[in-house]
Amino acid sequence: MKVMVVGSGGREHALAWKIAQSPLVDRIYCVPGNAGMAKVGVCVDLPITPDGFDRLADFAEKEGIDLTVVGPEAPLVAGIVDVFSERGLKIFGPTKAAAQIEDSKSFSKRFMLQRGIPTAEGVSFSDPDEAIDYIKSKGAPIVVKADGSAAAGKGSFVCMEVEEAINAVKAIMVDRIFGEAGRKVVVEEYLEGEEASFIVLTDGETVLPLVTSQDHKRAYDGDKGPNTGGMGAYSPAPVVTDRMAREIIERIILPTVKGLREEGRPYVGALYAGLMITDEGPKVLEFNCRFGDPETQVILPRLESDLVPALLACIEGRLSEVKLKWRDEAAVCVVLASGGYPGRYEKGKVIEGVEEAEEIENVVVFHAGTAVKEGKLVTNGGRVLGVTALDRDIPSAIRRAYRAVERIRFEGMHYRRDIGHRALRRLGLL
Ligand code: AMP
Ligand code: GLY
Repeated sequence: MKVMVVGSGGREHALAWKIAQSPLVDRIYCVPGNAGMAKVGVCVDLPITPDGFDRLADFAEKEGIDLTVVGPEAPLVAGIVDVFSERGLKIFGPTKAAAQIEDSKSFSKRFMLQRGIPTAEGVSFSDPDEAIDYIKSKGAPIVVKADGSAAAGKGSFVCMEVEEAINAVKAIMVDRIFGEAGRKVVVEEYLEGEEASFIVLTDGETVLPLVTSQDHKRAYDGDKGPNTGGMGAYSPAPVVTDRMAREIIERIILPTVKGLREEGRPYVGALYAGLMITDEGPKVLEFNCRFGDPETQVILPRLESDLVPALLACIEGRLSEVKLKWRDEAAVCVVLASGGYPGRYEKGKVIEGVEEAEEIENVVVFHAGTAVKEGKLVTNGGRVLGVTALDRDIPSAIRRAYRAVERIRFEGMHYRRDIGHRALRRLGLL
């Protein structure tokens, strides 16, 4: 089989790395890929923006690609799956209509509230004054979210003061700091608890949960500083017990998949529920229409089974035939970022020590923003590498991951030193 992976981040490297281990696969194409993906596949420099979908489908036809797997949300919400499917090309991911669950917070809030899927109480507004009146009537703490996914995970403001929430509405809707993603806002109740990511595969009917995980969104230790794409992750997330996982599937995942089907938007792909585990049980903070990044970098190394048959079964509507086998070991991923990230940063810094890090057993270094220039591995983005380690439990995996991190250097490199701290606390080790 020939498989094409769309995207260029750590998540896509993890997908390509796992797919490359499949005995069914003899060739991988990565569009556009990165320096790490170039080691498991052939990188193809084609655009993955909407105006390039037809060219990408032409390429898939010409090369006889049997399966395309899409990593990031942008091509999904723009309808890459619709374009490929219409041309009879197999592609893993939701259609544009189904991807609304991530692309519009007002859609997903309405959907959840109407169907009794546990989430924060909230209202969507297309008029900033109405949003502000509502905020004043509710008081703080309160959460303001830009509607669209183009805000790229930075569109949510957790506000401890009314004034702050009002400013968030103005920034999103009047100043349009996220562009069109700010045509509407959702204002919602502040939830307290511990977060967890719950990701499933689905063919639109059957759901197959992946192991649980948790990422670290803030830039600095102690969950301080600005939000990022994710500075690290661990799996399993001890906050999600087996009983809790069953509750999440019964009360959240299955009603969501059923609801989308009933609304004529059958969902096929990876469905990611970002949850807050509150005293009243799990509640949805957001849905994503894809695998998590960096959650995938801790989930896939724990997967013992071949991923490819599961992806194909989703597309072919026979996921009920598939079982996944998982390793008992825990996984921890530490993201190494460029100096200045998530703000401005420079590119082109020489990276050293990746091979030495991977000499440690059960360590994989996933590339995100990397490139090769004049024969040298250099930084090429904000999040540069994700160092994943597997070990018998979370504390050991943390130690192993940081041992590997210590072997890697580039100018300005920064990373969090407390990845997994919530898991350690829950396990009574902090
Ligand atoms: P979102 O973009 O909806 O995933 O939100 C980003 C982050 O904001 C989440 O990971 C939470 O840490 C926080 N957050 C979002 N919604 C809420 C809420 N209703 N209550 C408390 N924190 C929230
Ligand atoms: N790690 C958060 C996300 O993938 O959205």
